[in-house]
Amino acid sequence: MKILLTGANGFVGSHILDQLCARSLPTAILLRPTSNKRFLEPLGSEVEVRHGSVSDPVSLRAAMSGITHIIHCAGCTKALRTSEFYEINHIGTRNVVEAANAQPGQMRRLVHISSLAAAGPGELACPVREDTLPRPVSEYGRSKLEGEREVRNHCRFEHVILRPSAVYGPRDTGFLPLFKTVKCHLLPTPNRKQALSLIYVRDLAEAAMVCLELPAAAGKTYFVASEEVITARGMADEIASQMKIWAMPFPLPLVFLWQLCLAREIIARFTGKANILGLQKFAELKAPGWVCDASLLRREIGCECRTNLKAGIAGTLSWYRKAGWL
Ligand SMILES: NC(=O)c1ccc[n+]([C@@H]2O[C@H](COP(=O)([O-])OP(=O)(O)OC[C@H]3O[C@@H](n4cnc5c(N)ncnc54)[C@H](OP(=O)(O)O)[C@@H]3O)[C@@H](O)[C@H]2O)c1
Repeated sequence: MKILLTGANGFVGSHILDQLCARSLPTAILLRPTSNKRFLEPLGSEVEVRHGSVSDPVSLRAAMSGITHIIHCAGCTKALRTSEFYEINHIGTRNVVEAANAQPGQMRRLVHISSLAAAGPGELACPVREDTLPRPVSEYGRSKLEGEREVRNHCRFEHVILRPSAVYGPRDTGFLPLFKTVKCHLLPTPNRKQALSLIYVRDLAEAAMVCLELPAAAGKTYFVASEEVITARGMADEIASQMKIWAMPFPLPLVFLWQLCLAREIIARFTGKANILGLQKFAELKAPGWVCDASLLRREIGCECRTNLKAGIAGTLSWYRKAGWL
């Protein structure tokens, strides 16, 4: 068995790599020459670095040598141009599948990290399930759905598709602004009470491990989320309580969120640095909710996402403090 992990230096991928290393599984990671290695040091002797990009089919074919299992976690979550989402999440996934298909008889399984965004919004009363017709609302979500279709329709060996809800935990930059805002004694309070499914990053990494080999998971698509459903304000309240600081509500009407996204979009264009909070994110922010029913994962493959919000916030807060991010 030899695993190729893409996106290993990113937030989610670095936790998957930690799990692979903890199990001493022989692993190769795909890195670009420009990839930031801050989450990778030190690399164990069981980890081999292979240089390449999901946008470069030639490098991918070379990277597949001797590989039996792939965890495809590379993805584009923020972009300056809409086309970048498709170049990486759709065409990049197609390239991974084609390069793997070109190694007949060798490949056993591909675990593809997709997203709840590929399925689209869901509400507390009506969460999205694996059999819900996908209705992505953002270019990111549409590009992830196209990536899923590449895997489902063209992969000539076993595959599993995981659709995590919003992911948080150590090394995450996505929720960091929320922690920083609370530290400034403000509790962001959107006037639309958007219910959210969340997943602690270590639980997601464990789910990827289970899906790597378990026969029952082959050919399946699973949402990955904790059972607890919260709101952004509920999360902010928990952060404030664990930080032991007073904080007052900071109302965020939709029109203000739109202005904020517009401002971040303009700044991103000027600086040439993509920001997660752009106009395409607004489509997701104004959705009624992001709730999925992840019970199939528990029922079919016994995968429990055990970390509740209290423990997850504690782990995240402690890491942010140690890393000097907060
Ligand atoms: N974070 C979340 O809340 C969340 C929720 C649901 C699903 N996901 C999915 O989880 C995956 C990882 O997301 P993340 O939050 O960990 O993002 P991240 O920290 O930005 O990591 C993205 C990873 O993809 C790699 N990558 C991007 N373009 C590449 C290319 N052309 N060739 C090779 N590698 C490339 C990046 O490498 P470089 O450093 O070289 O750019 C990086 O390692 C994505 O597929 C995302 O859609 C994330």
